[in-house]
Amino acid sequence: MESNEILSLLAEHYKLKGSLIPLAGELDLNYKLTIDNETAFIVKISRDPETISSIAFQEALLRHLKEKEIEGEVPQLIPNLSGTYQKEVFLNGKKAILRVLQWVEGRLWSQTNPILSDLRYGLGNHLGNIAQNLQDFKHPFAQRSFEWNLSECLWVEQHLGLFTATELELVTPFITAFKTHQETYNQLPKSIIHNDANDHNIVVSQALIQPKIIGIIDYGDACYSQTINDLAVACTYGIMDTEDPLAASLPIVKGYHQANELSETAVSHLYHLIGMRLVISLTKAAINKKSHPENKYLLVSEKPAWALLHKWRKINSKRAYYSFRKACGFKAHPNLAKFEQWGKANTFSLKTLFPSQKKQDTLHLDLSVSSLWIENEAAFNDLTYFQYKIERLQEANPHKIIAGGYLEPRPLYTSEDYDIQSNEGPISRCVHLGVDFWLPSKTPVHALLDGRVVMALDRKGEKEYGGFVVLEHQIDAMHFYTLYGHLDPESIAAHKVGDALKKDSLIGLLGNKENNGNWAPHLHFQILLDLLDYTEDFPGVQTYQEQDLWADLCPDPNLLFKSEELKPKLKPTTEDIMPFRKKHLGKSLSIQYQEPLQVVRGYGAYLIDQNGQKYLDTVNNVAHVGHEHPSVVKAGQQQMAVLNTNTRYLHPNLNKAAKAIIDTLPKGLEVVHFVNSGSEANELALRMAYTVTGGKEVIASEHGYHGNTNGTIGVSSYKFNGKGGQGKPKDTHLIPMPDAFRGKYRGENTGSLYAQEVHKTIASIQEQQKTLAGFIIEPIISCGGQVPLPNNFLALAYKAVRAAGGLCISDEVQTGCGRMGTHFWGFELYGVSPDIVTIGKPLGNGHPVAAVVCTQEVAQKFANGMEFFNTFGGNPVSCAIASETLNVVKKEKLQENANQVGSYLIQALKTLQKDFPILKDIRGHGLFIGIELLSDQQNPLALETSYLANRMKDLGILMSTDGPDHNVLKIKPPMVFSFSQADRLLHGLRRVLKEDFLSVPKTL
Ligand SMILES: Cc1ncc(COP(=O)(O)O)c(C=O)c1O
Repeated sequence: MESNEILSLLAEHYKLKGSLIPLAGELDLNYKLTIDNETAFIVKISRDPETISSIAFQEALLRHLKEKEIEGEVPQLIPNLSGTYQKEVFLNGKKAILRVLQWVEGRLWSQTNPILSDLRYGLGNHLGNIAQNLQDFKHPFAQRSFEWNLSECLWVEQHLGLFTATELELVTPFITAFKTHQETYNQLPKSIIHNDANDHNIVVSQALIQPKIIGIIDYGDACYSQTINDLAVACTYGIMDTEDPLAASLPIVKGYHQANELSETAVSHLYHLIGMRLVISLTKAAINKKSHPENKYLLVSEKPAWALLHKWRKINSKRAYYSFRKACGFKAHPNLAKFEQWGKANTFSLKTLFPSQKKQDTLHLDLSVSSLWIENEAAFNDLTYFQYKIERLQEANPHKIIAGGYLEPRPLYTSEDYDIQSNEGPISRCVHLGVDFWLPSKTPVHALLDGRVVMALDRKGEKEYGGFVVLEHQIDAMHFYTLYGHLDPESIAAHKVGDALKKDSLIGLLGNKENNGNWAPHLHFQILLDLLDYTEDFPGVQTYQEQDLWADLCPDPNLLFKSEELKPKLKPTTEDIMPFRKKHLGKSLSIQYQEPLQVVRGYGAYLIDQNGQKYLDTVNNVAHVGHEHPSVVKAGQQQMAVLNTNTRYLHPNLNKAAKAIIDTLPKGLEVVHFVNSGSEANELALRMAYTVTGGKEVIASEHGYHGNTNGTIGVSSYKFNGKGGQGKPKDTHLIPMPDAFRGKYRGENTGSLYAQEVHKTIASIQEQQKTLAGFIIEPIISCGGQVPLPNNFLALAYKAVRAAGGLCISDEVQTGCGRMGTHFWGFELYGVSPDIVTIGKPLGNGHPVAAVVCTQEVAQKFANGMEFFNTFGGNPVSCAIASETLNVVKKEKLQENANQVGSYLIQALKTLQKDFPILKDIRGHGLFIGIELLSDQQNPLALETSYLANRMKDLGILMSTDGPDHNVLKIKPPMVFSFSQADRLLHGLRRVLKEDFLSVPKTL
């Protein structure tokens, strides 16, 4: 009824005809008017006197912005037939104002997922641009008194009675802070601002990947206020529901500042203003709740605001201030330049710090993630060994103090204990903010300059500072602090906060591992420009993401010592590595990910990049028992130190490794040939088949991959039918991939149908009077997309092959060594035993060792007089490594782990599938799992699969994709993959699957 009336008003005053859809609106009646399914307008009917009085102001503002031709959309008013932008009309007999505005095409911020830094930057930038262009706009209405105007926010004080005691604890500090800073705040530049960049007013482009800000709508709350308030409002909504709201706010601030420069003073108010905007919203909500107790929606909608206030309150306001400064391109600390100048002009000797030491020169000790000196986790956590190495280094360099560590990303702190939750998953606090001086315990540490004790205590506990002192120093108008960690607590017990300490006086003695957090003796020396309200601690490491901020707050101690050795040692960046690799390494080497990863360290199921960023690895089944497993590494190192030669000599390692393999295999498979790679293993297996049978014809599956040598490429349709492939060799015979999900035959009981294909192939080979050499297949076809073989297929296929005189080769390069969970070898899933088994990737846990195991009969026939010599295959080092890898599988019960964690993961993925139907098939065994992504029409979703893998990498989880249609996510992590790591993977998948690019219905 109302719509009809409005339609006739639109026809009368605007000559516009179309259809209306009602939209949400707080005070106005809002509609979308669509004409001929194309052009759209927004129709606003205002009946509220307050809104009506603001219409002329909004109209003038929009026209002003139009004249400025700013980038992005500003919804323009459409003139009516009388040439004005508003019309007084009667609707249902009541006076109202009718306006028509241009429709801003796009979707709302509130409907956009994910919201990433680029979009937040865009929001800040767009808003800054508007603010910049409103600088010269004046209007009397803008001066009205308005509860949403932050500069008038103290009205909330009258309503504090609506809050509980706990709520008040969150609210009052922001009110107090606002009052404390009101004087300077009142002097901040003012202008007319939008004042309501909330998530329902920000229009974002429809692009599902890297969307852009299209415009900001609804100028109903525009008012004259401190310009920075606009940014505070945008930040408040732009960081809602984030894990780390401060980090989320920084791109908004950066984008804004680049469009509309903020003063350092203005930035100093931002933290409190964001808090205060939340307080206004929550007070409004509390008032509404009281007047509409029946409205449950009000309760739900205030929840995120409370959650944010809770988080925001926990953030140190100074830290936020310094972060905002940094985001704007200022030095994070206002005194940094002064400190640097002072540092340049004054040099301090290490003799002052350590007067008992004759030496002054330093020797840099690299403890960075890529440091080889530090060795692996087991080595650096073995303090006696670590200490021993330090002492050896000291002995070898008697005239030098071993030191280093400023801004060094260290693996020492990449354990989960040092993780914090970022907006993109857990990240490690691993960048070291001080310099460490490695000297014996009891070494006296003296004051470099006059100071006052601000902290002196024993920070007890594992990996803590132990005896800990912070001194404050006053130099002219500037003060800063020096921090001393890892002292003997007894030696500092006499210091009291407030004590003056003269230059050269004793601060304390270096502690030992028993009293300094279980570290080898050293001094952690750090400079601080601010205590950030810490009174009993101060962080010595921070995240790589915040490194630039902390570098400004904790300047380089070498500014004082000026040692050449302590200057930052730059490690190659990704940009340094790429050009050489591109020019001088094989052009067909591929690199994973749109932004390549430089990986320099691994442990367990983690890979770590050069900056100490840890990635949960669900891809590398080569690191079978965990990356750089200490006992496998040790086995290799020890043997390598003693002997490495070829198999023409006797060595027990060869027998031991062969026996360890044979012990895991069914009876009959008992002769081992060692080689160096999976390709070589399959190449040899094929050669055995040719020699034993006298035939040349090999049956393989479509989409199979068996290696990179000429022979193995010849049986790998994944390669010869893929990009750059030469097509199928004439003696290779392909059967359709036995894929019961989406292959030639689908559903249960298709094993015999696929086996029929083997029969047919054999018949055709025989028709041509040719001899079958063998049949090669993986038990779960990996490159084909983790495709398990249908029941009974392998038994029937093997029977047919053997009946035709051929040999059966099971390629266990991916699937072997316990990964299947229920069985040690993949073929065992199907109750068969092959004639030849090829083993690769997992056997050496990353070291190149592979093997071919066959029956006595095959081995006998293969030994036809031609020697099998392999320079590297079966050497004592590789064999030591292979034996230890298999030993670890047993000792650490990793097959059981694969079974338990794998079953859990498959079950949980099936649950996830119910919520996200694009996950069409979940399949696999143990820790060898595939997830196939298809549209409702069963079409492969390659782009979506690649999107998932790339976004998971952003969340710190590595995944790979495969399958003929590139639409299968593969999960094949190191076998130490734990339940909690599985949970993290599931959590990440659920998060990304909700993102727009994946959740928009796929009906292709
Ligand atoms: C099933 C299978 N066989 C053989 C190979 C070849 O092994 P390598 O790369 O060690 O030569 C691979 C490698 O990915 C494989 O997946």
